[in-house]
Amino acid sequence: MTRLLIRDLRQVATPSGTGAPLRGGDLGRVDVIEDAYVLVDGGEIADVGRMRELGASAVIGEFGELDGRGRCAVPGLVDCHTHAAFAGDRVEEFALRAGGASYEELHAAGGGILSTVRATRAAGEAGLRVAVERHRESMLRAGTTTFEAKSGYGLDHETELASLRAIAAAGGIPTWLGAHAVPPEFDDADAYLDFALTEVLPEAAKVAEAADVFVERGAFDVKQARRYLEACKAEGLALRLHGDQFTEAGAVPLAVELGARSVDHLEATSDAGIRTLAASQTTAVLLPASALFLGRPMPPGRALVDAGAAVALATDFNPGSAFTESLPLVCSLACTQLTLAPGEALAACTVNAAHVLGRSARRGRIAPGFDADLLLLDVPDWRYLAYHLGGDLGIDPIIGGRRALP
Ligand code: NIG
Ligand code: FE
Repeated sequence: MTRLLIRDLRQVATPSGTGAPLRGGDLGRVDVIEDAYVLVDGGEIADVGRMRELGASAVIGEFGELDGRGRCAVPGLVDCHTHAAFAGDRVEEFALRAGGASYEELHAAGGGILSTVRATRAAGEAGLRVAVERHRESMLRAGTTTFEAKSGYGLDHETELASLRAIAAAGGIPTWLGAHAVPPEFDDADAYLDFALTEVLPEAAKVAEAADVFVERGAFDVKQARRYLEACKAEGLALRLHGDQFTEAGAVPLAVELGARSVDHLEATSDAGIRTLAASQTTAVLLPASALFLGRPMPPGRALVDAGAAVALATDFNPGSAFTESLPLVCSLACTQLTLAPGEALAACTVNAAHVLGRSARRGRIAPGFDADLLLLDVPDWRYLAYHLGGDLGIDPIIGGRRALP
């Protein structure tokens, strides 16, 4: 049983309140305790308070101690949208894009997602497990203590299931992105969906918690997405959508109608889409690193928050459109490009991201009863999380009350 006192922290910063998701004015409220301690018992947070109120109770003597050394604690970050189950890379494509080629052109020419499909199929299950484990470790070094990851680079029976198993084996929360692209062995999207829903869904539903679909020209249209999502819902999966990345093709109304947990990307979302999301229970997951990496317009983060939508932030970590594992970088982009406040960014990649993953009762806050997942940052103020662009935060992650890196 882990009993740990983390003492002499300069600050403990955690999103205020107890509910999820946080919206509007509630999103930016942060409780900051100066000169603080965190008490962990059995992998859970037992107490948080000020050092001067800690006293010298006999019970405290039974706890191991970790010297906070004047560092700042924030909740362990929750990455609710990654494509970490991939092999190979897209560095050639990156160089071509730097020379002016567009992501959509490369996709249409059989590169893009399909080139990662070739590499992922070739890796086999053992190779995929090694890759996902390596990606998990990189995410952890960047402060991610809970991650979701999608399949979607297999698009055949064997590799989709191997991807979901590799994610689960690495401690991730698996999402079946069975409708990411149409693989080359099928002539059209409907024929591929016939196969995926008959041959893959029954087994995918035993491993995955959610299903996801890429709604976009050149991928799946709204009619196909509806068919896919309704079949997945019937198998008990929560629903997610990639929507409005390049064009507003109806993903937002579909997500809201089907009660999806989230619709993600939203770079092309109009005012009408913002209003629809704000009036719904569906979370808007923003991926500003993807917009940056592809040189695309940023999603309307400020307008979504101001309208009252539930907003989360994630990396979209993948080899093609967002090759970064770093939620601190995403927080920097949220503040500088989406004009969110540091507290809004923090809540969006902790409490609200945990909500998207159905984990908000135990993840995303430093508060009694929550899992003892937190980051000790070697910085003078917790807002360095967003302020120090690409900087070294000296991240020391704690998971379940144990230091997670050597
Ligand atoms: O979320 N847009 C669709 N899927 C991914 C990109 C995947 C890739 O390019 O490999 C995304 O950006
Ligand atoms: Fe994505």
